[in-house]
Amino acid sequence: MTSSKLAIHGGPKAVSAKPVPVSPLDPSELKAALGELIDAGEFSDASGAGAIGRFERSFAEYIGCDHGLGFCNGTSALLAAYLACGVGPGDEVIHPCYSWVASVAPLLLLGARPVFCGVSPLSLLIDPAAIGPLITPRTRAISVVHMHGAVCEMDAVLEIARARGLPVIEDGSHCHGASYRGRRCGSLGDVGCFSMQGGPVGGKPVACGEGGIAVCRSRDLYERMTSFAQINRVPGGGFLDAELAQLAPFNSGMKFRAHPWAMACASLMLRDLDRANAEKREVRARVQESIEPLWALTMCETAADSTPGGFYGGINLLHHPERAGGVPAARILDALKAEGVACGPAPYPLLHRLPLFRGDAPGARRLYPWLAETPAPAASTDLGPSEDAHGRVVNVLFPMQLSPGDPYVPQMLDAFRKVYGHLSRGEFI
Ligand SMILES: Cc1ncc(COP(=O)(O)O)c(C=O)c1O
Repeated sequence: MTSSKLAIHGGPKAVSAKPVPVSPLDPSELKAALGELIDAGEFSDASGAGAIGRFERSFAEYIGCDHGLGFCNGTSALLAAYLACGVGPGDEVIHPCYSWVASVAPLLLLGARPVFCGVSPLSLLIDPAAIGPLITPRTRAISVVHMHGAVCEMDAVLEIARARGLPVIEDGSHCHGASYRGRRCGSLGDVGCFSMQGGPVGGKPVACGEGGIAVCRSRDLYERMTSFAQINRVPGGGFLDAELAQLAPFNSGMKFRAHPWAMACASLMLRDLDRANAEKREVRARVQESIEPLWALTMCETAADSTPGGFYGGINLLHHPERAGGVPAARILDALKAEGVACGPAPYPLLHRLPLFRGDAPGARRLYPWLAETPAPAASTDLGPSEDAHGRVVNVLFPMQLSPGDPYVPQMLDAFRKVYGHLSRGEFI
């Protein structure tokens, strides 16, 4: 089959099986859990006890942090984390140029500017070597995002951050359950934020419809986030910070409170996370093993001594045209799709390319007029290598939603071998 004519040239397709995504969540268990909350009249909870508190405690413990705070989504958790870390008007936050927009958008609301940092062309994760030159007296924090389950080079990032006294915000929305040198992602920096958006199939690794959580070790950061984001809520034991205590119970008046039903759903997903991750790692290892001999296709790297996890958004592979007679990634995607592989380019655009972050975009100026007063970041790096790598991504979605035994997986791997086999024989175009 792998030597037959390419489907893009009219040959037979390598993939005939329909992928069958599996749900890690038993719907009857979820219905029972929600039924209990309905019977108990738990529709909203300002105290953080009940389903919200139960999830916060178990998730924080799972990640290895002392405090967890539930949110209505991941974006608001990030907003609270930035604010708690002291990010405010005129500040700069160093942020990787490849991520989902929500990991950086809250900065605009705070009157701060993102300073986009290059990503490693082999991992598409923040390149620690590119951080240092971006630090200026206005730098207030460094943000990292563990994209699609792969883990950032945290030792190098933390070394720079500690040397400069900068807090690190970790966005773990794609990597629930991943770890680095034996510690869970989300516990490595100062605050870890996680989106739990989506359903059990195709949503975040711990998914609850709409929801988020922030975790941290510092009681001070926890109290700041609580005071900012959770009207009427007083942390267990009351605010230790006398000034924040004075604001209670109305706090800052903001309410990004989690829904108890969502947190009950998240609790069930969390219970199953390690098992689901083990299966996903098995499929990922098989993909890695199969593409290794293809030479012109590699898997986006994860940090040394890390265990990737979660894998939201599928697997990012990198096509290397210089090893493939110059055939570009777009052509490879066409050929793979013709073979029946569900794939596409990088799921997200590069952030510095978005009109939202260009100083001259009228829409952004209208929404955030105060940014006109904020000086543009003084330092920038060459994002060309990041752009080149981003343009070579072959993103495959399904394998991370399938059980290891799904017949789609070996057929998809055959399709890779077929396409790259033709390429190596110069029979591609
Ligand atoms: C990396 C990342 N950060 C933050 C978010 C925002 O989370 P939410 O949609 O729950 O607000 C997402 C959402 O997909 C994300 O992918």
